[in-house]
Amino acid sequence: MMSTPFNRIPAERVGEDSSSIWVDLSALASENNAVNLGQGFPDGPAPKFVTDQLKNVSKHPDLTCAHQYTSGFGHPKLVKELCKWYSYLYQQQVDAKTNILVTVGAYHALYYSFHAWINEGDEVIIIEPAFDCYAPQIKLAGGVPVSIVMNFPDGGTDASQFTVDFEKMESSITEKTKMIVINNPHNPTGKLFSRMELLKIADIAQKYDLIVVADEVYEFHCWGVHKLVRFASLPGMFTRTISIGSAGKIFSITGWKLGWTIGPQHLLAPLKSIHQNCTYACSTPTQLAVAMAFEMEWATFHVKPHKSYLGGYLPEELVKKSKKLQKMLVKAGFAPILPQAGYFMLANYTRLNTAFKTSEETEELDDYAFTKWLCTEKKLAVIPLTAFFANNEDKMRNTSFVRFCFFKKDKTLNDGKKIMKNLSK
Ligand SMILES: Cc1ncc(COP(=O)(O)O)c(C=O)c1O
Repeated sequence: MMSTPFNRIPAERVGEDSSSIWVDLSALASENNAVNLGQGFPDGPAPKFVTDQLKNVSKHPDLTCAHQYTSGFGHPKLVKELCKWYSYLYQQQVDAKTNILVTVGAYHALYYSFHAWINEGDEVIIIEPAFDCYAPQIKLAGGVPVSIVMNFPDGGTDASQFTVDFEKMESSITEKTKMIVINNPHNPTGKLFSRMELLKIADIAQKYDLIVVADEVYEFHCWGVHKLVRFASLPGMFTRTISIGSAGKIFSITGWKLGWTIGPQHLLAPLKSIHQNCTYACSTPTQLAVAMAFEMEWATFHVKPHKSYLGGYLPEELVKKSKKLQKMLVKAGFAPILPQAGYFMLANYTRLNTAFKTSEETEELDDYAFTKWLCTEKKLAVIPLTAFFANNEDKMRNTSFVRFCFFKKDKTLNDGKKIMKNLSK
């Protein structure tokens, strides 16, 4: 039989642009064997008290509750732990049956949140720069992302100097606005939104009856005087907030891909409807191991936090590493923006004295071109800031910065330092 040419096109909702910064730059970094200070994952050993739990789980092949399908909305042991932790963190009772849905990482939780609540043409406010999957996921759900770009002063040096124009945010609201997405601590700037700022967002949400998606995956990546205010813990906000967490970020095990949404029953019910026909249940052994890690951590965290992983080791490591990266960057001629929280640092590269030349001839954004040059010529991988903006005009205005991840082992940071010493012509 003669074969007819394949002539079908993908569903329109998928769109044409299939590129992803993570896919493209990870490939470039590995082709060039580059030191990767770009992508956001710790490359040191995962905490042993966490991996030991997975080891324990694997020692019991006979346990149905460890290796077979578990409850669809979350393994009972993990749900119990999440209830305990978040009831404590929000200072409000979180209910196991109605307030929790375990997902395949925070990505999946975001996907469900948009698909469960956004109709064709609904508008969703995002604060930019923003984690780069928000806008594509909102569009895939039929929604329209509305960007509120943060202000930052020329020559600013601290992530707290990123500010939201709340009047502009309010004036961008139309009758189609349904949701605001906030990310706190913030990727990529390292900003930690203050209580005052969050209260302003809460007022707007209340006034216009909006749902708030609070992506708080870096919730334990805070140090020193900087304390996270969880959005759902603000007066009256639990009822309109879908909070998103990630075991991958909390326990420095990003490859485990386990996350969750916490929220009131009326907000989570439609997410659960999608989940039960789409995933049904997340991986049982990883849920169980994360539950046991939470259980172990609780014993120290809530009595002597500074001796625990989340209240002691993690923040101490982050301060050390951010200081080290900041020093390296300044020495090399970058102008870094000091983060308040999270594990990322932005740095202006435009004053560097290097052989890198911007070109008028290509349409490529300068920060992309710089990132590629740095990766191919100097073997150092970073991420261009423009990847965190949805609109071209906003990208064009923000081509002077690249993002570094400082949660890397000392060897990786030192390798980066050697490269940075030899950046100049
Ligand atoms: C702000 C933010 N939200 C969500 C995610 C996704 O988290 P997960 O790996 O749990 O899917 C990331 C990962 O980098 C992130 O930075």
